[in-house]
Amino acid sequence: MDLEAFRSLPEWPMILRDSWETNAGWWQAGFTEGSDVEYEEQIKPIVRVGLGGAHRILDLGGGDGQLARVLAADGASTVVLDSSAAQLQTAHHRGSSVVLATGAALPFRDGSFDGVLICLVLEHVVELDEVLAEVARVLEPGGRFLLMLNHPILQTPGSGFIDDVDLGEQYWRLGPYLREDIQMEEVDAQIFVPFVHRPLSRYLNGASARGLMLVRMEEPPPPPGFVARAEEYLQVQEYPRLLVLHFERRP
Ligand SMILES: C[S@@+](CC[C@H](N)C(=O)[O-])C[C@H]1O[C@@H](n2cnc3c(N)ncnc32)[C@H](O)[C@@H]1O
Repeated sequence: MDLEAFRSLPEWPMILRDSWETNAGWWQAGFTEGSDVEYEEQIKPIVRVGLGGAHRILDLGGGDGQLARVLAADGASTVVLDSSAAQLQTAHHRGSSVVLATGAALPFRDGSFDGVLICLVLEHVVELDEVLAEVARVLEPGGRFLLMLNHPILQTPGSGFIDDVDLGEQYWRLGPYLREDIQMEEVDAQIFVPFVHRPLSRYLNGASARGLMLVRMEEPPPPPGFVARAEEYLQVQEYPRLLVLHFERRP
């Protein structure tokens, strides 16, 4: 569905929030506490390097707090903010400081943090510009913003593996890349998660318009443990599943 049309529905905030309340248990069981190879082999190491040395870090959309805990173990003071109470209940239980709020209206003073992390969140968020403005506001000048996304070039509406029976091939189908769109995707049996697709330029231009300057971009290949999980993943070894953007708040 077209993103602007979705945003005109009065009930859209409830649709998004309810989805994460309902699916928090699914997320925690499949992607946290060492259960997901991409987090263990790739995302956690990138986070430690990308925000290493920061002292006050906001993990926006931090879920159960797994990444904040990695940073806290390295000595940072961290806050896990999320719009899902079910996620935060677990984050609190697992030892994180938590705040229930939306990323579009952060309950912190200007310049409260020298690091902000957003990992695999903005592709579920409708209010991109509001969130980026809030990140810029709560970061002190020179502070770092580490943004990780499912790579938007591959995660388009209708993208996925296609079996070409005539050619005996399997390939990754790309849908319409330039359209801003939201879909409820069935990511597991009866698990529906909202996925917002936008072209990469929307993220980069949205950030730069708010004083968040790109300093480095990474497109890492899937880690070995992921590729080993299924035969078809061998074919996507050279497709970037993850996009890593390192920004700095302009002084
Ligand atoms: C895929 S999970 C990622 C969790 C965590 N960042 C991680 O990498 O383990 C997405 C998280 O974003 C949160 N979220 C979605 N929309 C949000 C919003 N507008 N404000 C704050 N959190 C949001 C969800 O509740 C969920 O916990």
